[in-house]
Amino acid sequence: MAANKKLLMLPGDGIGPEVMKQVQAIIEWMDRRRHVTFDVTQDLVGGAAIDKHGTSLADETLDQAMNVDAVLLGAVGGPKWDGVARDIRPEAGLLKLRKEMDLFANLRPATVLPAMAKASSLKEELVSGLDMLIVRELTGGVYFGQPRGIETLPDGTRKAVDTQVYTEGEIERVCRLAFELAGKRSNRLHSVEKANVMETGVLWRAVATEVGKDFPNIELNHMYADNCAMQLVRRPKQFDVIVTDNLFGDILSDCAAMLTGSLGMLPSASLGAADADGRRKALYEPVHGSAPDIAGQGIANPLAMIQSFAMCLKYSFDMGEDADLVEQACRNALDAGLRTADIMEAGTTKISTSQMGEAVTRELDKLAA
Ligand code: IPM
Ligand code: MG
Repeated sequence: MAANKKLLMLPGDGIGPEVMKQVQAIIEWMDRRRHVTFDVTQDLVGGAAIDKHGTSLADETLDQAMNVDAVLLGAVGGPKWDGVARDIRPEAGLLKLRKEMDLFANLRPATVLPAMAKASSLKEELVSGLDMLIVRELTGGVYFGQPRGIETLPDGTRKAVDTQVYTEGEIERVCRLAFELAGKRSNRLHSVEKANVMETGVLWRAVATEVGKDFPNIELNHMYADNCAMQLVRRPKQFDVIVTDNLFGDILSDCAAMLTGSLGMLPSASLGAADADGRRKALYEPVHGSAPDIAGQGIANPLAMIQSFAMCLKYSFDMGEDADLVEQACRNALDAGLRTADIMEAGTTKISTSQMGEAVTRELDKLAA
């Protein structure tokens, strides 16, 4: 039997726990059917951790995260914690995890499944077959740059400062990974910044070009971020892999996500540097948030969380076949006309969060039979 694979589950807030439960069901299925054992521990993050520990990420939780093979995270945040101090708010726990684990590359695929092409807000022909990947730098830029803060000036008015800062090394490592990923796809990479107005953009473009010299087979295109936003809604299929900074990546990945018709469908992987054995620290989470408005009703779409687990199988455990199996099971459940409320359309059958989880497990049974 394969060695145990250590997973830390941080379901978090809102719909996080409901969708995470469906991943547990898939893990149980794998334990039973595929002879792999996962060693799963659970802990709190975000608002749930604030309620218990007074901080959105307890030191013990961070310790655990640093010592497992992969972390699965549901979602953080909700109106309940709107009033808490900024440095302990739910999002701070997530940012701290990313930073402390040094998860510098955030992979956000945006794929339009055949069964879902009609659900996009764009015309079907613009998005059908779309399969792109945004690689977002995740531990630098304006999210973490110093100085930052709000101060009161001598005249009594306030001034706020955020700092966009990137070192060559930070740009280099994320670009290199993006080139490598592009090499496993269609050999095309768009590097996105605003070199026309920002110094960090000038450096980003220069470093991307230099890294590109190591990848002569990959076609590198540079694009300004505003143009990229426009091109994403104009002709999204021109893109294969996009690499960009933390803030542009945050914005552009939401935009790309919506092209697919539902935020509830999209997974993500956040990866650190590879060690000597090729292992990376990693965290997997859906792109969607905690959706407090529908939490606890059993109607959330668990497919983004389930597919995040599929990414975990692929990138952390080198279990590409099992990852494909899970993805195929999700597709089959959709092809069978099953839909959670967020992706419901005429002629399909509305089911709950747990029913979607069961449908995926049933499809897994059929695929593995
Ligand atoms: C995301 C989210 C986070 C971010 C928030 C919750 C801090 O929007 O993962 O895209 O801005 O990075
Ligand atoms: Mg975001």
